[in-house]
Amino acid sequence: MVSREQAEGLQRDLQLIAANADSGQALMAEIVSRLKEGLAGYDWVGFYMIEKGGHSQETLVLGPFAGADTPHRRIPLNQGICGAAASSASTIVVDDVASDPRYLACSLETKSEIVAPIFIRGKVAGELDIDSHSPSAFGLEDRRLVEYCASLVGRLLEKESS
Ligand code: SME
Repeated sequence: MVSREQAEGLQRDLQLIAANADSGQALMAEIVSRLKEGLAGYDWVGFYMIEKGGHSQETLVLGPFAGADTPHRRIPLNQGICGAAASSASTIVVDDVASDPRYLACSLETKSEIVAPIFIRGKVAGELDIDSHSPSAFGLEDRRLVEYCASLVGRLLEKESS
């Protein structure tokens, strides 16, 4: 779990990085590397963005990530913890992935997960997903930090698309 001091330091750094980022993609790449390298227990960090398919079907597509490769590069909105977070437009924290029937396994080592949606003009456009090899790795400060990162990306993407 992240300490309040660590979270505040990272938020300050990321706010500056966001203010100077060339693109949403560049900011996402920076966030995944900072979180993965800087925080214990953040073992896989990645973005999924919603892509519109035919018949207005929406799918989550893997964007910048840090950690082991994942078989889940595309996730339908009705599958996984990722799909549940996007379709409910809310952050989901799972302390023990083995006990959650929605869970799609990326790595056998994963024990807990947090997923926070990214909003553009009030609509879910994607999400930030983090897996940990430790159970119950994400507390209130982690949730705040992850939601903050998601909001930085949402604000920049909103600007890019206006
Ligand atoms: N565990 C996720 C799938 C993505 S991987 O964690 C990278 C889920 O249940 O949706």
